Amino acid sequence: MLTVLRTCTLAGMALCVLLAAPETRAFEPFSPLPESPPVPTDNPQTPEKIALGRQLFFDPRLSVDGAVSCNSCHDLRRGGADGLSLSTGARGRVTTRNTPTLWNAAYQTAYFWDGRAASLEDAIARHIVDPAIMGQPDPDAAIVPLRKLALYRKQFSTAFDGWRPVKYRNAVHALAAYVRTLATPRGPFDRYLEGDVSALSEAALRGHRLFVEKGCAACHFWVNFAGPVPGLVIPMGEGFYELFPNLRGSRYDDEYRLLGADMGRFHIDGREDHKYLWRVPTLRNVTLTAPYFHNGSVATLEEAVRVMARTQFDLEVTGDEVSDIVTFLRALTGEFPPPESMTVP
Ligand code: HEC
Ligand code: HEC
Repeated sequence: MLTVLRTCTLAGMALCVLLAAPETRAFEPFSPLPESPPVPTDNPQTPEKIALGRQLFFDPRLSVDGAVSCNSCHDLRRGGADGLSLSTGARGRVTTRNTPTLWNAAYQTAYFWDGRAASLEDAIARHIVDPAIMGQPDPDAAIVPLRKLALYRKQFSTAFDGWRPVKYRNAVHALAAYVRTLATPRGPFDRYLEGDVSALSEAALRGHRLFVEKGCAACHFWVNFAGPVPGLVIPMGEGFYELFPNLRGSRYDDEYRLLGADMGRFHIDGREDHKYLWRVPTLRNVTLTAPYFHNGSVATLEEAVRVMARTQFDLEVTGDEVSDIVTFLRALTGEFPPPESMTVP
């Protein structure tokens, strides 16, 4: 268990201690995707709200120039991302970071690469008025075009009570409710965890062992391979962070601009020890969401594994080890809903 302690930064210490304590050695670091996601009490899931959220997700009217919808960048049929290092939002503005997947996002404890949003609602509310994303100058501007449409007026009043239901908060709540439905259960590794030992190939099993032995699971564990799920050890909004790179000085620092101007969490709280501190991302469906890392600088999953091994543990991994770990990561791809449910309704 030493590797666990060796890789602990301050942010993850409480949990690392929990993982490393001798009496918790039987602790199972992984868990299949639960049947239903955590839901905040002020935004319960209802079929009407989810249907509205889906409608909005595919609607470019939400962007200031009508050029992009949520799905333009978070393409649900492409693993919830767009395959680009950086994406182009409203008015042709390019994002500063790589687009993360939205599949299984409900199981994160904070949102964005630096965890600055405390909930899905918070992330979406900031996104619509972000100049590089939907580009709306203010919440009202985002709502005006929706109010003009009879279909939306009807849908909003079916989904929400109250006077003039076509409002920003409700649009954000509906989108968040829809995003909470994006789950990919029953991947090979989920089935393995549920007792189907034939669900993993020999290579995937070797990869699983390496993933634990090398220490990857010290950060990439539990439901989303991204640390604690909301409510367990870490409450919603707090986030689970680690330094990247943990160990500086490898050739990857320059090659992939790991010590560039974007210093992650440092920009949120100004703490020196939070320079290059990033939220631990999910590894579910990770084979579908190249390129990798917050700046999208690494093109292949094999290379991402080598970069992680070197920057987090100063480990050189052999070609066979990388290939086995990638085979294991492929087993984290779950079942997607039918393609027709992932397009404009
Ligand atoms: C121009 C591309 C683009 C569009 C359009 C876009 N997003 Fe994003 N999205 C991103 C990027 C880039 C990030 C990461 C931003 C960061 O970390 O600073 C992100 C992050 C998120 C997150 C946080 C996910 C996580 O795990 O941290 C959510 C939720 C989200 N977007 C939802 C939406 C919704 C809903 C819409 C439509 C209203 C939308 N996005 C439109 C690019 C986009
Ligand atoms: C000390 C914590 C820690 C350890 C240990 C760790 N990771 Fe990571 N991992 C992270 C963080 C933080 C990121 C996000 C980095 C960033 O900002 O781009 C990440 C990102 C990744 C990504 C890219 C995900 C994406 O969507 O871009 C992959 C793949 C990955 N890790 C695999 C591994 C593997 C395989 C190992 C073991 C060799 C490992 N990690 C060990 C913390 C860790």
